[in-house]
Amino acid sequence: MSIKFNYGYAKQFIRENDLKGLEAQVESAHNIINSKSGLGNDFLGWVNLPVDYDRDEFARIKKAAEKIRNDTDILIVIGIGGSYLGARAAIEFLKGPYYNSLRNGAPEIYFSGNSISGSDLADVLKLCEGKRVSVNIISKSGTTTEPAVAFRVFRKYLEELYGEEEAARRIYCTTDKARGTLKQLADEKGYECFVVPDDVGGRFSVLTAVGLLPIAAAGADIDKLMQGAAVAVNKYNNPDISRNDCYIYAALRNAFYRKGKSVELLVSYEPRFTMMSEWFKQLFGESEGKDNKGLFPASVTFSTDLHSMGQFIQDGSRVMFETVVTFNETDKDIIIEQEQNNGDGLNFLAGKNMSYVNRKAFEGTVLAHTDGGVPNLVISVDRPDEENLGELIYFFEKACAMSGYILGVNPFDQPGVENYKKNMFALLGKPGYEAQKAELEVRLGKN
Ligand code: PA5
Repeated sequence: MSIKFNYGYAKQFIRENDLKGLEAQVESAHNIINSKSGLGNDFLGWVNLPVDYDRDEFARIKKAAEKIRNDTDILIVIGIGGSYLGARAAIEFLKGPYYNSLRNGAPEIYFSGNSISGSDLADVLKLCEGKRVSVNIISKSGTTTEPAVAFRVFRKYLEELYGEEEAARRIYCTTDKARGTLKQLADEKGYECFVVPDDVGGRFSVLTAVGLLPIAAAGADIDKLMQGAAVAVNKYNNPDISRNDCYIYAALRNAFYRKGKSVELLVSYEPRFTMMSEWFKQLFGESEGKDNKGLFPASVTFSTDLHSMGQFIQDGSRVMFETVVTFNETDKDIIIEQEQNNGDGLNFLAGKNMSYVNRKAFEGTVLAHTDGGVPNLVISVDRPDEENLGELIYFFEKACAMSGYILGVNPFDQPGVENYKKNMFALLGKPGYEAQKAELEVRLGKN
């Protein structure tokens, strides 16, 4: 088994009826996912995506990635939210957080257009000096301000550097198949385009061109990634909760929520997982945090954060449960050697590798935290490779849909994201927002 879910460490916090009582809801949510009859059912394209995707486009993605790998020193991936987190998370999961320094001939990859910081954008531009640059602009709507501003800057940069024609050969555009400002611009300029399917929302889009092109450009095997996800399509489609780890996980999240836990802390012991946690937070936060409901998704990387957040988790307000992702094997390791004088007192670790010590840190922590009243769920992954990543991505996506339906929300919309945008546009003087501008300025003036 490549991914295994264990709730043994949480058993003291749950009663048999907690899961039994959710069986009917799980079955009904399973049926509405499969029959596409629930809230947000227009956005269920991710469910069968790993077994039913556009093979021609997939081949074009691999070809474009190959071209990028041959003619590019720096790939700039422009996108925000679901249009960048999955790709960045996957690259770090597979290649490690130091990918850009250890990339072994592959292009450096920087993610831009995911903030409105001029200083950040200026730094990324500086990194490009003297390098061969390509850009992958990703925006499903094609109108999101952050990536649109960054793309305007990089488009000018590439056109000045290479001229319009060569710049167009170095710009790859991932967006809607027909609609939006970006698609229009791409058609005018002749950029190669990849599609974000209509029925796949941003935070569920990592296994479309949104994630696949940057992931392939980093040298990862996207065939294996899809194969791993395809395994998960069957593995996590059993309506019987007792035989479906993904549904047990989703149900337990809801059981804890009903018992007053308001925070789910995603924990890992590998820095390469930190961006996966960011992807996870968007997936669950944007899917469930609505109608005044939802678990707040947070994350920590141990043992690093045991030295900053460990005190609170062990001993602070009892608002959380932990979901811990562990790896059974790592791709690299270091053995701690014997030292003759044992000046640092570490000879009791001699001959052990660091993953063994890391395992003991996990075991010690899981016991301490459950003693401290924090239920722990554990997801163990065999090793950080493409197949396991594909399965893990799908596991979380399916659990998120199931969990959202049990909670009684539409897991596929994000109405709350619009509010800040309207205010920002009004304050910036975007045409059409004149009335709001005056009102907001009065309110700001009072503070
Ligand atoms: O999950 C989502 O829908 C969002 O995070 C979007 O991906 C994000 O807002 C970016 O939108 P777009 O791809 O339209 O630029």
